[in-house]
Amino acid sequence: MTQPSTTLATEAELTALGKTISLPIVEGSEQEIAIDIGRLRRETGWITLDPGYVNTGACSSAITFIDGEKGILRYRGYPIEEIAKQGSFLGVAWLLLFGELPTDEELDRFKADIRREAGLPQELEGLFKAMPRDGHPMPIAAAAVSALAAWFPEPESDEDIYLATVRLMAKLPTIAAWCHNHSQGTPFADSDVDGLYGERFLKMMFSTPDAAHEVDPAVARALELLLILHADHEQNCSTSTVRLVGSSKAHLFGAIASGIHALWGPLHGGANQAVIEMLEDIEKGGGSARDFLERAKDKTQNVRLMGFGHRVYKSYDPRAKVLKAACMDVLEKLGKGSRLLEIAMELEEITLEDEYFVSRSLYPNVDFYSGVIYKALGIPTGMFTVMFALGRLPGWIAQWIEMRQSPEFRIGRPRQVYTGPTKRSLE
Ligand code: SDX
Repeated sequence: MTQPSTTLATEAELTALGKTISLPIVEGSEQEIAIDIGRLRRETGWITLDPGYVNTGACSSAITFIDGEKGILRYRGYPIEEIAKQGSFLGVAWLLLFGELPTDEELDRFKADIRREAGLPQELEGLFKAMPRDGHPMPIAAAAVSALAAWFPEPESDEDIYLATVRLMAKLPTIAAWCHNHSQGTPFADSDVDGLYGERFLKMMFSTPDAAHEVDPAVARALELLLILHADHEQNCSTSTVRLVGSSKAHLFGAIASGIHALWGPLHGGANQAVIEMLEDIEKGGGSARDFLERAKDKTQNVRLMGFGHRVYKSYDPRAKVLKAACMDVLEKLGKGSRLLEIAMELEEITLEDEYFVSRSLYPNVDFYSGVIYKALGIPTGMFTVMFALGRLPGWIAQWIEMRQSPEFRIGRPRQVYTGPTKRSLE
């Protein structure tokens, strides 16, 4: 259950247009301060306006804490640098979902439940077969997750919510693998495979009826790390989408399908695919990082340095730091080089000294290095954002559970400032 914020003794005073109103000030467990405007409109008729919610908190939450200025990220209080060493994505998923790391028995049961529920209804094959083979996997995955709401009821009780959580955690990797199978024209994977969470996904994605895919342990470990680093990130665009859709008491699976679509955007999770395409374009064009950066700084060029910048981090994204080190480690273990990694590191090096990027606090974010690792692990570029969705799934569900169980729970319905035509008549 979410711990409510603390209401301070002093209140904020707002004076405008001859009116003064006092508003409560609340403080979070990390001393974040917010002005509670819950009674603003009732007492003044005014609202606040904050396009993109840059300054607006939508909820209280006890799941993830970010300090963008200091580059801090913690899951349920544990620093991401320590969590990254956990090694078990399902263990970290349990922490996000239920508040504490699982006991060995809890983790074993969670794994067994997920393996049991990993299959998809046979009829769902028809949905994949109806899709174009070269269609992007994100809308196909979203369609499949949404369709599962037709098979399974909206969860209400804690037991139902646990089962729905297991079904989503179990079936999304199978859905993702079937997206790839369909794109390759290979049979839909059998979901009854063993191994770590990411390892099972790779086996389903790459195995054929004639040859079971074996996963290098270094690859399996790298994928667990990637999934852990993507698992939650407080009120980002796709998580806020899941919360808003879920706030109408729509089906959990529909809220998750909406989150998948929101994540697909290139300004959000779709950036990991855009980064690799950007690095490959630079390589094809002769590999001048400096020339590309000049274009990214020129507003008339409509070019962005993908994988750079963040709404919250105004310093290095701590996940990017871990990913950069993991990138070099995986490539070394696999005995691979990467010209794309070299270009990425050259881009980063130049930006750290460039006034345009420094003055706007633009640093690498989680998407800048993740694609280089996915590529080294043999994952097709078109599947990169699906990998992000696989990692973010427990965070989306955890935030949905917290919202539905919160004393603050109510349907989300923002206001607006109307700027259209004033009253006129058709007569
Ligand atoms: C994710 O919210 C989360 O937590 C998201 C996420 C998660 O885990 O859920 O961390 C995952 O989505 C990471 C972000 C991935 N997206 C990208 O890498 C796309 C490239 N980045 C940008 O488009 C941008 O930085 C955003 C979208 C990430 C943030 O956008 P903001 O906060 O709205 O900032 P902005 O667009 O207003 O930019 C501020 C200034 C502008 O210049 P000025 O108008 O001040 O002159 O910085 C410039 C922008 O033009 N700028 C960039 C830039 N990002 C911002 N210029 C060049 N390249 C960039 N990447």
